[in-house]
Amino acid sequence: MYINEAKDNVNNYVEVKGWVYNMRESGKVIFILVRDGSGIMQSVVSKNDVDEKVFEDAKKLTQESSIVVRGIVREDKRAPFGYELLVKELEMLQLTENYPITPKEHGVGFLMEHRHLWLRSKRQWAILRIRHRIEKSLRDFFDSRGFTLIDAPILTPAACEGTTTLFETNYFDEKAYLSQSGQLYMEAAAMAFGKVYCFGPTFRAEKSKTRRHLMEFWMLEPEVAFLTFEENLKLQEEMIYYVVQEVLKNCKIELDIIERDTKMLEKVVPPFPRIHYRDAIELLNKKGVNIKYGDDFGGDEETVLANEFEKPVFVHHFPKEIKAFYMQPDPEDPGTVFAADLLAPEGYGEIIGGSERIHDYDLLLQRMKENNLPIENYQWYLDLRRYGSVPHSGFGIGLERTLAWIAKLPHVRETIPFPRLLEKIYP
Ligand code: 4AD
Ligand code: MG
Repeated sequence: MYINEAKDNVNNYVEVKGWVYNMRESGKVIFILVRDGSGIMQSVVSKNDVDEKVFEDAKKLTQESSIVVRGIVREDKRAPFGYELLVKELEMLQLTENYPITPKEHGVGFLMEHRHLWLRSKRQWAILRIRHRIEKSLRDFFDSRGFTLIDAPILTPAACEGTTTLFETNYFDEKAYLSQSGQLYMEAAAMAFGKVYCFGPTFRAEKSKTRRHLMEFWMLEPEVAFLTFEENLKLQEEMIYYVVQEVLKNCKIELDIIERDTKMLEKVVPPFPRIHYRDAIELLNKKGVNIKYGDDFGGDEETVLANEFEKPVFVHHFPKEIKAFYMQPDPEDPGTVFAADLLAPEGYGEIIGGSERIHDYDLLLQRMKENNLPIENYQWYLDLRRYGSVPHSGFGIGLERTLAWIAKLPHVRETIPFPRLLEKIYP
């Protein structure tokens, strides 16, 4: 049996294979918290109920020893997770000595050095289970709406999101870069499949040591032919709503473990508020932030803005100078682009960046030249504007930042199994 199947096994004699999470002894009874990856279950070894050898073995157990226990499942409201195992038999596979992570508090640096073991802790388990649920519900959302999953390459010849954060590598005699975004490839795919998305790792050599920057993070990027800027925002609202609902429905135990107050998540219902970049600057100034029209937002500005709203908020119509070369200018206000960032509430800031893309050949070429891009590397991308060009839009949602918000974590380092942080690549 897996521990999460306990409710269907009440009064059955079962076998559980796992690890000792914690234990305590109280006279003639030893309580072992056993974890097996699916959950944690209290296993009770009573001196009066078992062979002497089993009781003596149980006494010797240590944190993270690997074991097999057999016994009867009982419902017990007082036990963590509601069920316990009355142990009859116990096998020790390995008796662990000196497990480095003990129930006492450890510093973050120490835990990060032991990330391979830290993953076993209840909190990390809960967080990464929520991550899985977010990934699954994102995929389900697009799959059920007729999107085709198209995998984007990781090794790329050119930049998508500016040249300052590229990880460079050798590609035989050429230079190549780890992908910053699959978007340009999704634009090609959208002209072939209509509605597409990719979901993979992306890489940015960000010289930023903040609570929201990773060097390697996962991004889901939908791209849709004929989708307008307005429809793009709707798609994002529906997606976020769906994901939050799925987490609330399926991750009760996990949210409980990390003590997430879910009231704020229940409020995440479309439509989401929208604020024009110009008004966002004004609002920030009113809040005492020193920023002027034309400046980009940093994490601090986003936090101040996000705190003004209970739901996620779209900031839209940024000046074109601070945004990517491929974004479509608004014909009614050509200094600004049809782009929007979605800022998550509770101070989290940007989790989505999206836009309508330029579909006119001449305009795109002009914007690429203004951005000093090596045009020869982008001929294939320009082809998309030479042959049957249509208006299209898309966005990218960062998985780790979305999880950090939904789980209300202080830092993205806990949102990915093995985080790549500034100049840190161990383990
Ligand atoms: O806003 P960004 O740079 O947008 C793009 O890459 C577009 N090409 C996406 C598209 O339209 N297809 O990044 C999108 C999201 C951000 O909103 C953020 O959630 C996440 O990716 N992100 C990061 N997450 C963690 N660490 C980093 N260093 C990140 N940089 C971006
Ligand atoms: Mg962005």
